[in-house]
Amino acid sequence: MSNFNEAELLHTFKGIPFTTRSSPELLKSLDTFDAREDDVLLVSYPKSGTHWLAGVITKLYMTQVTVTSPIEFGDISQLEELNKLSSKRIIPTHLDYNMLPPNFKNKKCKMIYISRNPKDTAVSMFHYYRDNPNLPTVDTWAAFFDLFLKGNVVCGSWFDHFLSWAEHEDEKNILFLFYEDMKKDLPKVVKEITLFLSLNVSDNDIQDICKKSSFSEMKNDTEKENSDPSHTVCALTSNRKLIFRKGAVGDWKNYFTPKQNIRFQEIFNEKMKLSKM
Ligand code: A3P
Repeated sequence: MSNFNEAELLHTFKGIPFTTRSSPELLKSLDTFDAREDDVLLVSYPKSGTHWLAGVITKLYMTQVTVTSPIEFGDISQLEELNKLSSKRIIPTHLDYNMLPPNFKNKKCKMIYISRNPKDTAVSMFHYYRDNPNLPTVDTWAAFFDLFLKGNVVCGSWFDHFLSWAEHEDEKNILFLFYEDMKKDLPKVVKEITLFLSLNVSDNDIQDICKKSSFSEMKNDTEKENSDPSHTVCALTSNRKLIFRKGAVGDWKNYFTPKQNIRFQEIFNEKMKLSKM
């Protein structure tokens, strides 16, 4: 629940709502951001499993890597800080493909896009909005459902975001992952990630990393370090309870009315009909 009004919390840049924590100057400067060839981008629409993926990936590297805060977050000094980092950078972002700094594309940096059933994403985002003072107040699930479908939420429309990336599914430097696949068979997905990142990790180590990356392990770990916001890739809260909520597939069934489900499905079918994915 927020004490601020919407205008104080959100602004629009290139038609997409951002929180005021992403300064317009920073967003404008993204076009000239200098990528490094070994940067790895973790791309997602909010609430798709970004922390989970970041947790897995950092455990796969033997060398020092830094998971930065999302590239679109902060004021202009954030980009200078990123430039100064000497270690390999794992950079999370919720940016639409079209807003991504061109340098990442030109240098063919590796990018991992994680997506999740948008119905579960919507429910997860509803809780995130409801309990986060840095986001506008939403009183009911019904009200949030409408905002989500219209794309009037932070980072804009799930459909536009997904489609902007899905158009690039054939590009070798982009790996597409699904939250549901990670839930079903995490070791298989982790193996895929190691091959994509050209990392040599034994099957035993993969099993071990998967155990340490379970929802309960990650939730416990982060509760221990709860007060340190630098340990989160989520720039809008240091409250881990908002990030590690339920970690389930299909929670949408507890929220969607049959009518909402039909409406969502119609819009989904219409918007996604051109996507091969
Ligand atoms: P829920 O709100 O449905 O529980 P993001 O990191 O992109 O903000 O996504 C947050 C969502 O990922 C939350 O979903 C959270 O519980 C879930 N999540 C985080 N870590 C997880 C894990 N280790 N296993 C499964 N789900 C996880």
